[in-house]
This record gives sequence, structure tokens and C-alpha cells, in this order.
Amino acid sequence: MEQKVSMEKIISLAKRRGFIYQGSEIYGGLAGTWDYGPHGVTLKNQIKDIWWKKFISSRDDMYGIDAAILMNPKVWIASGHVGGFNDPLVEDVKTKKRYRADHLLEEAGVDVVGMSLEQMNVAIKEKGIQSPDKNNLGEVKQFNMMFKTDIGVSGGPDDISYLRPETAQGMFVNYKNVVDSFHPKLPFGLGQIGKAFRNEIAPRDFIFRNREIEQMEVEYFVHSDSWKEHFESWRKSVREFTQDIGLPDEQVHELEIPDEDRAHYSERTIDFEFDFPFGRKELCGLAYRTDYDLKKHMEASKVNLEYFDEVTKEKFVPHCIEPSLGVERMVLAVLSSAYTEDELGGETRTYLKLASSIAPYQVAVFPLLKNRPELVTKAREVYDALRASGLRVTFDDNGNVGKRYRRQDEIGTPFCVTVDFDTIGQSEGDDTTKLINTVTIRNRDTGKQERVEIGEVTKIIED
Ligand code: GAP
Repeated sequence: MEQKVSMEKIISLAKRRGFIYQGSEIYGGLAGTWDYGPHGVTLKNQIKDIWWKKFISSRDDMYGIDAAILMNPKVWIASGHVGGFNDPLVEDVKTKKRYRADHLLEEAGVDVVGMSLEQMNVAIKEKGIQSPDKNNLGEVKQFNMMFKTDIGVSGGPDDISYLRPETAQGMFVNYKNVVDSFHPKLPFGLGQIGKAFRNEIAPRDFIFRNREIEQMEVEYFVHSDSWKEHFESWRKSVREFTQDIGLPDEQVHELEIPDEDRAHYSERTIDFEFDFPFGRKELCGLAYRTDYDLKKHMEASKVNLEYFDEVTKEKFVPHCIEPSLGVERMVLAVLSSAYTEDELGGETRTYLKLASSIAPYQVAVFPLLKNRPELVTKAREVYDALRASGLRVTFDDNGNVGKRYRRQDEIGTPFCVTVDFDTIGQSEGDDTTKLINTVTIRNRDTGKQERVEIGEVTKIIED
């Protein structure tokens, strides 16, 4: 199902409501970097928390780690990233601006799957493809996407390191540490959440293609005989995770990546794609990395990374299944599928239909009037009780109730609770005594309110 919402609307709401800002904005920004505001960071943390619980802390076969971003440069030579982590780059001969050659070709309707650099050069000439500024293009070259950095003060060639382009290698180099400390039985896995950096030639589509990213990755070690069964089980788990964070199932698609298009280390890859507003694009991936990485590190470091099976007495290098999920792409998928416009009370309204499990706030509490201390005091009591029960709660007394609803709708708060004169037994009429200690609870999606006992609120929200 294609999304109708435009990226401009999502970007504008994300900024207006404190989810995501352009990185270094007051200096004109820095391409490919984004800063997360108070609501963005809560949303991101909820997504990471659900991932961590599902894939690490609720399983006996998983070990969480947090490896350093800077690693010995030999890691990146052994892993193949120094030699092969490239994108095809082409330069506008006049402006010297650089572009992804494969993107320009795709935009011109050329199928780039499995194309070599020479074939790209030929296709650019044959099709007369020019830069977006309508100038001629130079030769297509390979461009390594790793950010280089100097370690220490001498600045010599031996002091170069890289900002990691994937968190995965931090797990391969710690495989032996975990085996030695915990003696896990195969199959078992290592997982971590952390930053990674890629010098993307053309960062674009808001937070879809960034230079600084956060990955949630698992390296799951298995016997080579059973990789297919584990690959299938991780395929299902990734799918479940997308459901857990509220992504509509019909917007998530699986794509088997052909041989010529897979990363150098993979013998099978499935990309999970999502219907973003700008088209169906990669959300996350699942790869069968074989024993490629452990073998490369074993050869380069001369450290034995074989596993000894106590039962079969077999010694071997385990094979690896890797579900790799980008946090930003999950956030973007969540925001673009949750963004909704409808008519309420004769007016157009915008709201985020976020799952309660990831919404920055699960409930907002309002006193009907800000200038009536008896309402404010009671509303504070309700707020404190909800917070104490572990819910993410906000207190809002700014502007009139209608404005507060609109604000909470745009943040994606599923419920708003209002303390009014009935709550404290000050309204007129026969029903007053019956209504004491009740509040109204409003449902974000329907806009409908009902009156409930204060004591029931937590249960209603948790349900
Ligand atoms: N360890 C395997 C690996 O890094 P990948 O397909 O290059 O594989 C995995 O990246 C995931 O990381 C992607 O599916 C995507 O979710 C995210 N990702 C990769 N590059 C990204 C970028 N430039 N901006 C945002 N997310 C990115």
C-alpha cells in the first residue's frame, strides 16, 4: 500500500513537535546528520528498548555487548571494508559536485543490478546522462565510504583508524571473549545497539540515508548444517519486531537479493522493504554471513576462533546469521505510517497514530482550567499516580483543552485525561455526587471521550 503523505509534512511535524531537528541547524546544518529532540529521543529509546528485550534480555541464547566505535584498523582490512566498502561516484565536470552514479542511472530508468564500473560509464555515455545541474559527468570511480580519523598526535600513516561503518565487527572481535567468559552452547548470539558512520555521497530523504547512523545488530552463531533453519527463524523474528513497534504488516515486504547484488560477505540476503512516502525502500536486512568474518579475523589476527563442541568433539568455525536493523529507518517508517489527517468537529486535524508501546507519552493529564487551584491539585494527583504506575505521562495546562488535544494528537499521545468540576464534586445538578472521583478519558484515534472512575484509568490505558 503506497503512502499518500508527503515527506514535507512529516519533516515539518517532526520539527514542530520536537522529534527531529536538522543537525547543527544554527550553522546552516551538516548534510546527513540529524538531532533528536525530547520526543524523538523517547520514541527512539522505546524502539531500542523493544528490540533489546525481544532479541537480548528475554532470551537465554543471546549476549549483549557494547564495543568501542574506534577499532584497530586491521579489523577493517580483515573484514574487507578497506578494500571493498565502496559506492560508485561520479563528478559534475563543471561544478565538481559528486553524485552516486547508480542513483543517476536508476533515475534515468537503467537497471543497475550487477553493473560494473565500466558498464556504468558506457551507460552514462550512451544515455547522455548529465548531472542535476545539466553538466557533463566525469568517469565513474569507486569511493570508500569509511570516515578516516587520526589516532594520537603523530598523524603518520600507521595512526589512521576509521569510525566503524557497521557495529557487526565489534561482535566478531569479541566472539572469543564471550565464549571464554560464558561458555555458551551453540547456537548463540551477540547483539548490540550503537552508532556507525558512513560517508554517504548523497545523504537524502530526511533520516533515511544518513552519514551518522545507529544500528541494532545481532550476530547469531550456528553450525553450518543448520543455518537455513536459523535464517528462517530470524526472518520471522524480524517480522514480529516490525509488528511490535506498530508498523502495518502490509507495508513491509521481503526481497530476496540476487547473487550479484549481495554484500561481499553474504551468501543469502533478504531485505525487508517498507513503503516510505518516496517509494518502497530498504528498512533492514537479514544476511547469512557464513564463516566469512570469523575466518578472516582468525587469519589476520592469528588467534584461533574455532568452537569446540563438547558433545560431538567437533572443532569448527561457526557460521553466522545477521539481522541488521537501522534505528533511523525504523523511526522514519513509524512516523510515516503513523502520520494521519482526518476531519474532527468540522476541522482537519493531524495526528500520529503511534502504538502505545512506542508513543513518547502514553497519557496526558489536564486540569480543565489552569487558574483553578483545586482542579490543578487534583490533576497533579492523577498525574503522579499514573507516573508511579510506570506509564509515560505528561501534564499539560497550556491554552484551552481543544488546543491541548491538538498538541497531544500531533505527538501521538493515545489518551488524554481531563480533571473537571465533576471530578472534585463542584458541578451543579443532581448527578454531582455520582461523578465525584471520575475523569474524562479521550481516545486519540476516535476523538471520543468517556467518563470513568479515576482508579480505572491505568487499567484502561494498559489494556
Ligand atoms: N552489518 C550489516 C550492515 O551494516 P547494511 O545493509 O549495510 O548491513 C544495515 O546496513 C541496516 O543499517 C540497513 O538495512 C539500514 O536499516 C541501516 N543503514 C545502513 N546505511 C544507512 C544509512 N546511510 N542511513 C540510515 N540507515 C542506514
